[in-house]
Amino acid sequence: MPNAYISGTGFYVPDEVVTNEDLAIRYGIDTTDEWIQKRTGIEARRFAPEGVGAADLAVPAVEMAVECAGLSKTDIGLIVLATLSPEHCFPGSGVYLQTKLGLTDDDVGHFVGCLDVRDQCSGFLYGLATAASMVQTGSIDNIVVVGTEVHSAALDLSTRGRSVATLFGDGAGAVIVSATNEDRGVRSWHLGADGRYADALSQKVWDTRKRPFIPRNEEGVGQVTPDDMWAHMEGRLVFKHAVERMIGALMKEFQKQSLTLDDVDLFFFHQANLRINQYVAKQLGLPEEKVFHNIERYGNTTAATIPIMLAEAEREGRLQRGMKIAAVAFGSGFTWGAAIIDW
Ligand SMILES: CC(C)(COP(=O)(O)OP(=O)(O)OC[C@H]1O[C@@H](n2cnc3c(N)ncnc32)[C@H](O)[C@@H]1OP(=O)(O)O)[C@@H](O)C(=O)NCCC(=O)NCCS
Repeated sequence: MPNAYISGTGFYVPDEVVTNEDLAIRYGIDTTDEWIQKRTGIEARRFAPEGVGAADLAVPAVEMAVECAGLSKTDIGLIVLATLSPEHCFPGSGVYLQTKLGLTDDDVGHFVGCLDVRDQCSGFLYGLATAASMVQTGSIDNIVVVGTEVHSAALDLSTRGRSVATLFGDGAGAVIVSATNEDRGVRSWHLGADGRYADALSQKVWDTRKRPFIPRNEEGVGQVTPDDMWAHMEGRLVFKHAVERMIGALMKEFQKQSLTLDDVDLFFFHQANLRINQYVAKQLGLPEEKVFHNIERYGNTTAATIPIMLAEAEREGRLQRGMKIAAVAFGSGFTWGAAIIDW
């Protein structure tokens, strides 16, 4: 049975940098750089321009990962795409990405499967666990796992929405999960969820329990109230559960692998709030230099966060062959996940 290792990483963030001050001045949100930085550690985020969707951001990230792996796009055997901000209700963004990568061109004729993952901030780790398990069966050699988000389209960029809108940014990250006979790769993973808190972090813009799924006015025009249109978050509840679940997921993996925290060279925590991660790191007694972060530059990029971090850490030389790393995420659902990888 082959091992499943990460043979390439890539990322892409849109050019437009939106600072905390921009949110206050350009968007007129009643907030301050001080409030946002003090509570979350975020200094800026990126926003994609109108006309750009999740699959568009994913293309350069995947191309970078494919090149990094020394492969060509036609070597990809499956696309696994995680996002909470797909272009449409259906189809999923995976098929748009497949087309944009040129994998449906007649002369290529490479109609690989496309699997869309809907586990929000944990989506990348759910996708990675799925891809690694498939590669380990020996039935597929290279799977691209991409997390990509265009949050800026669905943020209430007004004072009403400030407790959510100031946290999120756009971006994409990708890895190639490949088969190898070398002694390396994804060693273990843990996935968890607690559906009792499904509503605590949710966006219910359409609801198939309603008839029709979006209420219509007398002219037949669909109407969505602000409460349904924008994301709802019980921030403190999310904070509390994020800390507990991230520590719990990591500890499970460490026990399974008979590891101690000292055995791990670098930790990649989902970037929702620097304070959450500092608290987790402190509880675990981790030294600062072992915990990678980029929330100050990008905010929370949900499913894209961990693969963006992996790609950046590799390019900065902080993530190197032979290292043991741990990745952990928590998000809407509530869902969470962790993975231990020998790089
Ligand atoms: C979002 C979060 C930073 C808010 O911090 P908090 O200390 O819990 O703040 P609260 O939501 O209780 O709000 C406190 C006050 O600040 C205000 N506020 C909220 N966002 C603000 C902003 N961006 N700027 C200024 N004031 C803001 C609130 O309106 C509230 O005002 P009030 O007391 O007059 O009602 C914090 O709860 C958090 O990070 N939670 C976890 C979020 C998360 O991880 N989400 C993603 C999971 S994947």
